[in-house]
Amino acid sequence: MSRNIMEYETVELDEQEGGILIIDQTKLPGKTEIIRLRTAQEIWDAIYLLKVRGAPAIGVTAAFGIYVLAREIAETGKLSGDEKDAGKFADWEVFYEKFTEQKNYLDSARPTAVNLSWALNRMDGVCRSAHEEGKTVEEILEILHEEACRIKEEDIQVCRAIGEYGLSLVKPGDGILTHCNAGQLATCKYGTATAPIYLGQERGYGFRVFADETRPLLQGARLTAYELHSAGVDVTLICDNMSAMVMKNGWVNAVFVGCDRVAANGDAANKIGTSVVAAVAKRYGVPFYVCAPTSTIDLATPTGAEIKIEQRPSEEVTEMWYKERMAPEGVKVFNPAFDVTDNELITAIVTENGIARAPFGESLREMCGRGR
Ligand code: MRU
Repeated sequence: MSRNIMEYETVELDEQEGGILIIDQTKLPGKTEIIRLRTAQEIWDAIYLLKVRGAPAIGVTAAFGIYVLAREIAETGKLSGDEKDAGKFADWEVFYEKFTEQKNYLDSARPTAVNLSWALNRMDGVCRSAHEEGKTVEEILEILHEEACRIKEEDIQVCRAIGEYGLSLVKPGDGILTHCNAGQLATCKYGTATAPIYLGQERGYGFRVFADETRPLLQGARLTAYELHSAGVDVTLICDNMSAMVMKNGWVNAVFVGCDRVAANGDAANKIGTSVVAAVAKRYGVPFYVCAPTSTIDLATPTGAEIKIEQRPSEEVTEMWYKERMAPEGVKVFNPAFDVTDNELITAIVTENGIARAPFGESLREMCGRGR
């Protein structure tokens, strides 16, 4: 019997064979294929091509990725070639120069989800502090390993805490709408936007969930509908242009979405189309909740206007998923991967440290401070 998708790890370090194991999410739901990433190019491609995606999962992959690359640098980094150096680790200067190079390379894979640079900077921070404390490169590798594993473990706990806070905002039998995939497949367990749904499921809440299909890459159809359905949640798939109708019909009591970067004023970047859902929710009086670990809150970015939005290839809109091209050759295409929801459309931002409400400038600072 085939394994349920909920039993797989989204991202895993292979301690025995080396490298990182991920589910290739571009193949879901048709095929569950686990792939191994070993080189910087493989890790970068997997993030850019969305084989692993979703802000927290990207962060965990980057943390494991830089650890795997650090080990490689330390073990094979430019030693003199002399016999006396056999089996030695590279010295600190050589090691750190290469480490920084690889860190910057991984960081360039996708620009919008702040968790990518957040995780890499955290790994860089422990690396430098360990050196300042006089640790050897060999010891630093162990510290990097522990930190990457901690980032993964924290992700699971953070998602669960978001789930508890999110669950306090809804009641049994509610209708919940979500956009894109901020689910288990976007994190290491529970998801962010789906965490209240999974916790509610454990407690018999009987939610009715609507999953937007999420053009152009169909994360809602391929991933959210798939994982919720596999977990036995009552989920109904809708096209993106149907959310107004289900909200007008009174079928939705709350919208929960994930997030890639929250600016200091509460403007929140998430999958393209999220801001449309927020505007429609406002129109029909449905509360709109953004679920965001504090690692997704970027207090250094003042407003959504400063968030860099990733632009993706036009083929994703014109031909991907279709048997034949569905747009005229040469037509202009605009394909931003994310949009920014203005803070005034957001009812609350649910973090692992509590629920932030307007004015977000203050409440987000407080949420970030609580974790320290
Ligand atoms: O392009 P993707 O699939 O990486 O976009 C994912 C999203 O927009 C998610 O909602 C976001 O990263 C939060 S995941 C918990």
